[in-house]
This record gives sequence, C-alpha cells and structure tokens, in this order.
Amino acid sequence: MISLPILTALYALYTTVCAVNPVNVTGQDFYDTVTGDRFMLLGVDYQPGGQAGYKPQQGEDALSQGDVCLRDAAVMQRLGVNTIRVYNVDPTLNHDDCASVFNAAGIYMVLDVNSPLGGESINRADPSSSYNSGYLNRVFGVIENFKNYPNTLAFFSANEVMNDIPTAADNPPYIRAVQRDMKNYIAKQGSRAIPVGYSAADVREILEDTWNYMQCSISNDTDNASRSDFFGLNSYSWCGGDATFESSGYNDIVAMFGSTTIPIFFSEYGCNKVMPRVFDEVAALYGPQMTSLSGGLIYEYSQEEADYGLVQINSNGSVSLLTDYDNLQMQYNRLNITLIEAANTTAANLDPPECSAGLISNSGMSKSFDLPAVPDGVQQMINNGISNPTQGRIVDVSNLTPSQEVYGTNGAPVQGLQVNRVPDDQSNTPSGATPSTSGSGAPAQPSKTGAAVVGARAEAAVGFVGLLGFVLSLL
Ligand SMILES: *[C@@H]1O[C@H](CO)[C@@H](O)[C@H](O)[C@H]1NC(C)=O
Ligand SMILES: *[C@@H]1O[C@H](CO)[C@@H](O)[C@H](O)[C@H]1NC(C)=O
Ligand SMILES: *[C@@H]1O[C@H](CO)[C@@H](O)[C@H](O)[C@H]1NC(C)=O
Ligand SMILES: *[C@@H]1O[C@H](CO)[C@@H](O)[C@H](O)[C@H]1NC(C)=O
Ligand SMILES: *[C@@H]1O[C@H](CO)[C@@H](O)[C@H](O)[C@H]1NC(C)=O
Ligand SMILES: *[C@@H]1O[C@H](CO)[C@@H](O)[C@H](O)[C@H]1NC(C)=O
Repeated sequence: MISLPILTALYALYTTVCAVNPVNVTGQDFYDTVTGDRFMLLGVDYQPGGQAGYKPQQGEDALSQGDVCLRDAAVMQRLGVNTIRVYNVDPTLNHDDCASVFNAAGIYMVLDVNSPLGGESINRADPSSSYNSGYLNRVFGVIENFKNYPNTLAFFSANEVMNDIPTAADNPPYIRAVQRDMKNYIAKQGSRAIPVGYSAADVREILEDTWNYMQCSISNDTDNASRSDFFGLNSYSWCGGDATFESSGYNDIVAMFGSTTIPIFFSEYGCNKVMPRVFDEVAALYGPQMTSLSGGLIYEYSQEEADYGLVQINSNGSVSLLTDYDNLQMQYNRLNITLIEAANTTAANLDPPECSAGLISNSGMSKSFDLPAVPDGVQQMINNGISNPTQGRIVDVSNLTPSQEVYGTNGAPVQGLQVNRVPDDQSNTPSGATPSTSGSGAPAQPSKTGAAVVGARAEAAVGFVGLLGFVLSLL
C-alpha cells in the first residue's frame, strides 16, 4: 500500500519527468524523434517588454519569471502554438520555472544565443574583433543553460547579421565559425544533437546566396560542424486580406527553396501594414502549397513600440487579448493538423551542395569558405566545458493556473484559463476553441465549456494513467 505522502511525492517527481519529445532534423524536415510525426513550428516570437525587457543587470529576461511565463503559456496554449522564439537570454539566470511551464504546455523554445549588449553578438561592422573567446563563453553559457530541457528545440547562431550587400561581404565566414563552435560544444557537452541555424533578413538580393552559403558542405569541415541545421527567414511580404500566394511572393520562396537540404521556416512573419491583421498567410503557409516549409513564428506575442502585438501586457500584470489574437486563433483552428504532422514519404533528403564560389551569385557576397580559426582557449572550453555554467533542469510545476487576469477582446475575463498539461508524448496543437469574441461584440464564450474542461479531464486521466505507469516503472 502506497501512502498519500509517498503518492504526492511520486506525483511531484512524475510531473518533472513528463516531457515533450525531443525533435531532430532529418533531411529538409523536423521530426518528433519518438512518434516519428513531422514537426512544423506553429509559433510566436516571445519578447515581452521588447528589447528593453532584457535586463541582466536586474536579473531579468523573458524566461526568468515563472509567474509571468505561466500566464503567457496559458494564453499561448489556448492560441494553439507549439513553439516560442526568445531573442535575448542571460546564461547566468535560472530559467527552470519558465522552461518547465512551457514544457508542461507542450511548447518548445528556440533560443537566440546573442543579445544587444556589447560583446554579446557578432558585430556586423567588425566581425573579426567580436569573434573572440569572451563572446563564445557567453554563447556556450546559453547552450549549458538550455541543453537539458527537453523542449529546447533549436538555437539561432545569429539574426540578420547580413542585412544588405555590404554586410554580406565579410560576415558569412564568422557566422559559420560560430555555428562550428556551437555544434562542437553541443556534441561534447550535450546529451543530444540540438539543431543550430541562422535567421535571415528577407533581402532578396542575397537571400538565396545566404541560404546556399549556410547549407553547403565544406570538405575539410569535420562533421559538417559549421553547416546550418536549418534556415530561418524573417518574412513580411504577405500584407493584408487582398494578398495572395502569388502577390506576396510566397510562390517565389517555395520555388527558391525547392531543393533545400535543410528545414526552412519563417523565424518571423506577420506583416502589419494592414490592421488589424487577418493572417490569411497562415492558411497558405500550412496548406498543401507550402508543406515543403516547416511553418513559422508570428511576430510577436506582446504589443510593443513596433505595433505587432497579439496581446497587450498591462502594467498591473494582467493581459488583454487583442483582435489580432482572435484572428490568429481562428486561422490556427482551421488548420489541418493531420496534413501538418504527416511525414513526407517522398522527401528527397538530398545531400548538401559542396561549398564553392560558383554557388554564390551576388558579386558582393562572400565567396570564401576559409573560416576563422577557433580563438585561443576556446577549444579547451569545448573539450572540458566552460567553468561554472548555470545548467537548467525541468522542475515540478504543480500550479498551472495563472494568478493574473486575462481579458478577452470584449473586456470580460477569460474564464478557466490555465495550462493544461499535455500528455507525455505530445506538443500543443490548436484546440478548436471559440475565440473570446467572434468580432461581433458577442459575450465571451466561457472556455470552461470547451477545450479547458476537456483539457482538465484529459489532464486528470493522463495524470492518473501516466502516474500509474510511472509508479509501475519504478517497481
Ligand atoms: C531522428 O530521430 C529519428 C527517430 O528517433 C531517427 O530515426 C533518425 O535517424 C534521427 N535523425 C537524425 C538525423 O539523427
Ligand atoms: C557532410 O554531410 C554530407 C551529407 O550527409 C556528407 O555527404 C558529407 O560527406 C559530409 N561532409 C563532411 C566533411 O563531413
Ligand atoms: C489591470 O489593468 C487593466 C488595464 O489597465 C484594467 O482593465 C484592469 O481592471 C486592471 N485589473 C486589476 C485587477 O486591477
Ligand atoms: C487533411 O489532410 C489529410 C492528409 O493530407 C487529408 O487526407 C484530409 O482529407 C484533410 N482533411 C481536410 C478536412 O481537409
Ligand atoms: C516532400 O519532399 C519533396 C521532395 O523533397 C517535395 O517536393 C515535397 O514538396 C515535399 N512534400 C511535403 C508534403 O512536404
Ligand atoms: C577548407 O576548405 C575551404 C573551402 O574549400 C578552403 O577555402 C580552406 O582554405 C580550407 N581550410 C583549410 C584549413 O584547409
């Protein structure tokens, strides 16, 4: 007979071992390594407070406050996302509560390893002096911090460093060098291969060249370490309800990347030239014409100066959903999840092209694949690990109900909002729940009658069955 305290302790332990499945890259797609389902990013960029929300001197970044993450994970789970991108994290902070609550919600994290502070990124105006051991120590710190979370999906080595032709002249070899060092560090110090890739600006003169530069294979590059595992594109070309697959140039994007040897996804998308946004591009991106891409991340979760928010974060900690949230939720709810998760049985899984000057067409773009040497002292960090890393781990998150109010677009509180723990092997999917208003000013649909209750029941069932399985596995 197992006593109640023991059962409670076991449940706490069980909730910490519940985890989303690791995702890997096979050919041009991401896959759930356990179920074999294809994984497409259904995501949002998460940058509460904007760039100014990164406050390492105050011990704060977007993933340092568990209660804030719980609120936002509940709001995002209801929206239907399975991935967030976080731009700036401090590798010395504890991110366990946030990582664990997103894990419980079935939401993966893609982390940028850089920050806007001096010395914490490759300086596009001076790559050679910014590529140094102090910088790489920070990059490796981010890897240490996030490598043990099962819901760490990937790392971005850099974001939009090449943003015009002049910046494409000298920077590319440095980005590949950073990737080489990151992937070698993960291979030595991590327990699984976490994908590493670049997030590109949609500068059409150099876009195809940049993708080719990052995906090609250098013959003397041991284990293809400097090669990107995936390619992110920040794309804002589909604007408003009148745009189409053709007028937005999405057709060109699909054609350009037709022979890709690595996954491609939108690392930012969601043009705001026409407001409110109706997000018709979502149906296109996840529809039959674009399944060769791996989805995307909507820019961005919270309303900041640039006016791209899905929600407004109020000064008292409450959140007000905006019309864009309802519109995006409606688009997500219409997606065919069967289509999205179907493995591509005809995927070509092409070998990467060999890097050579002939692969690059713009005369201003770097044609050199002679990468900078590993800076002094860095190979030692790779071999032995950096000193005193802060390493994260999944912790018990028993409270899954946010304390803050969340208001629907009609101003009424969203009832029953909580994180519903997804069953062990799953990521979050759109719930099909009715948005908080249908745009007509109708009263909020209490989500208690919908997904939340189903979710709660499912959680109870999963909790019990999962716990039983877990207890049996210990015997
Ligand atoms: C990804 O995971 C699947 C399932 O575990 C495995 O069959 C496949 O070989 C892995 N791919 C790579 C490139 O590691
Ligand atoms: C890089 O990967 C490709 C495809 O798997 C392989 O053909 C090639 O030999 C690899 N190159 C190196 C240098 O490991
Ligand atoms: C918090 O702020 C929002 C927006 O200003 C307001 O509507 C709401 O009433 C406040 N909630 C509480 C609990 O004070
Ligand atoms: C969803 O996609 C699957 C796989 O392509 C297809 O068989 C099914 O008919 C689609 N469902 C709807 C409702 O379009
Ligand atoms: C499957 O892969 C093939 C060849 O790589 C590609 O042309 C096709 O668009 C892919 N289909 C899906 C559903 O991703
Ligand atoms: C490795 O190969 C690249 C591309 O062929 C070349 O530019 C570079 O000089 C080589 N580096 C070394 C150390 O041999």
